[in-house]
Amino acid sequence: MSNWSERLKQVCILSARLVLAIAFLFSGITKAVDPWGTAFKIQDYLIHFGLNQLVPFWLYPYMAMALAGLEFYVGLCLMWGIRRYFTALVSLAIMLVMTPLTLWLAIANPIADCGCFGDALVLSNWATFGKNVFLLLCVLLLWRGRRLATRFISENTQWLISVYGLLFVLLLMGHCMYHLPIADFRPYRIGNNITEQMEIPEGETAPEFDTRFVMEKDGKQQEFTLDNYPDSTWQFVDSYTVQTSEGYVPPVHDFILERVSDGEDITDQVLTDEGYTFLLVAYDLTKAQQGTVDLVNELYDYCNAYGYTFYGVTASGDEAIEQWRYDTGAAYDFCRMDAIPLKTMVRSNPGIVLLKEGTVINKWGSNDFPTEEYFRKPLEQTTLVDTDGSAPYGTLWKVVVFLLAVPLGLITLLDRVWTGLLLIGKLRKKSKISNLLKKKKMRKKIVAGNWKMNKNLQEGVALATELKEVLAADAPNCGVVIGTPFIHLATVAELLKDSVIAVSAENCANKEKGAYTGEVSAEMVKSTGAEYVILGHSERREYYNETPEILKEKVDLALANGLKVIFCIGESLAQREANEQEAVCKAELAGSVFHLTAEQWKNIVIAYEPIWAIGTGKTATAEQAEEIHAYIRSCVAEVYGAEAADDTTILYGGSCKASNAPELFAKADIDGGLIGGASLKAADFKGIIDAFK
Ligand code: 13P
Repeated sequence: MSNWSERLKQVCILSARLVLAIAFLFSGITKAVDPWGTAFKIQDYLIHFGLNQLVPFWLYPYMAMALAGLEFYVGLCLMWGIRRYFTALVSLAIMLVMTPLTLWLAIANPIADCGCFGDALVLSNWATFGKNVFLLLCVLLLWRGRRLATRFISENTQWLISVYGLLFVLLLMGHCMYHLPIADFRPYRIGNNITEQMEIPEGETAPEFDTRFVMEKDGKQQEFTLDNYPDSTWQFVDSYTVQTSEGYVPPVHDFILERVSDGEDITDQVLTDEGYTFLLVAYDLTKAQQGTVDLVNELYDYCNAYGYTFYGVTASGDEAIEQWRYDTGAAYDFCRMDAIPLKTMVRSNPGIVLLKEGTVINKWGSNDFPTEEYFRKPLEQTTLVDTDGSAPYGTLWKVVVFLLAVPLGLITLLDRVWTGLLLIGKLRKKSKISNLLKKKKMRKKIVAGNWKMNKNLQEGVALATELKEVLAADAPNCGVVIGTPFIHLATVAELLKDSVIAVSAENCANKEKGAYTGEVSAEMVKSTGAEYVILGHSERREYYNETPEILKEKVDLALANGLKVIFCIGESLAQREANEQEAVCKAELAGSVFHLTAEQWKNIVIAYEPIWAIGTGKTATAEQAEEIHAYIRSCVAEVYGAEAADDTTILYGGSCKASNAPELFAKADIDGGLIGGASLKAADFKGIIDAFK
């Protein structure tokens, strides 16, 4: 796919995700801010599906909180691009259920408002269906491209967003459940005038409504209208209003107060009363909390003392009212009203609404009823009428901005800065490592054998032949050298002429030529076809008293005759125990090779061979070896510079086998091995060579 269409796809997925995130967050918050409203809406749906009998009343608020919490959480995850599979799956499931449901709502019209966004945004049922089709398309797009969704926060920090978001929504729901919603989108919000909310604009006609009462007798529920309202053997369960003819429906259309004592409609009287009217609103007295009845009675006494009106308003039947009077000692008059406006007016059962000339002056949930300290002076002199509740979003926007957006924004910002710093650090480290690897890759890797004084000519030729064949069949990933006694050199060098194996002598004289019986000069070695010479081996230093000065002469002659030198250094056990290994190695280098020019240095290979590990079966650990190899390289760097040091091949020798070679050779400063015992069998030697594969 071209870059351009890939970009377009990403933009579409991001847009779909953000649209869904905003829809879910808005939907979740508007439900969370009014858990009782959401609970009533769920109850409405279940009544219409005939399932309300299956759900106990106490479960509704929990269902409401679960729904609001889920929508909010999905919105949050979508916004930040986290938990992509979970959110894509849940939003797909939600939309696959909601879209057909809202189609049914639009066609059958059993509920006027779907309740998607609580009371904050009321859409017609067809508009809701259209909105859901659009959101379903967004979800399908997101589902297909969920893996491409860019996350706005790192995986390590995403839990902070989840935990903070869930805590926020839980506390918000808890607060709005215990108190009243912190935002009120309903027509009865503080500051609204109910009479104005009931007005029908000029030119519009009013629709007609009918109230349905759900009553129960002998465990059987049945619906009634005002015309066939049953006798008192039926118990009131619920009531709702249905629209029987089209027309303009004002926000308040069912505020009708009917005094229970005489059946009189006192709606106008209450809404035009120039004094204060307290309404104790309890849509269902049998479910109303009785914990605050003393305060209610005190408030009623206060109203009597100061000339304010007080009514209890309920949709409950006479029996429930009588029971309430009996239980609480209520002396106030009751009015009856449909349950829906009562549930809408105040999200508490009971709640208190204070009116003056039809304007909602204040309202309280049962956990915040005015207490007796207010009842000593006229209302105007108290803070009970001093409210600032006219904005529908109330304090919600402040809560969302300061307790949600700002903290989550800060978490995201800190995460981005931290991730940025880590990334810079990682890139730096990566470039360092890759430089190091490049260097390590650049310098030559060598596995060199040192036969020492083993193998007669025939055996040596046989071993060289076998090795040649083995490596011809399976080419090595490193340079291979075999160091043979002088006697083999010419034959073996000739044998290996066209192979990948180079040949080395194990020694050469410190004299150029002349009367040195038994010696072999560097020139002679070179003339056999050999490429390398091993010098400074600890066995030669120890048994043949080769001093640094003698070795220096040998090195010079070898280089002068075009040979490359594998120069051995290493400490004894006593020196290692005295922690003198670094000093020993440095002195051996300084004594015999550090006088060379930079150009000559290019033909030097160092072999670090701790004497205590040679032929003993004791290997230096990879860490021990790496430590001293790095030190040796630093010594080379001091003399020839970092670049030359990086290019210098440093081999490890001492009980190196196929089993430990991979670990040793994997170290940054170990570039191969100088092998004694294990170079005497082709298979063993090949095993070590294969460590580079
Ligand atoms: P070993 O591998 O037998 O320990 O010998 C190492 C060595 O001295 C190579 O020069």
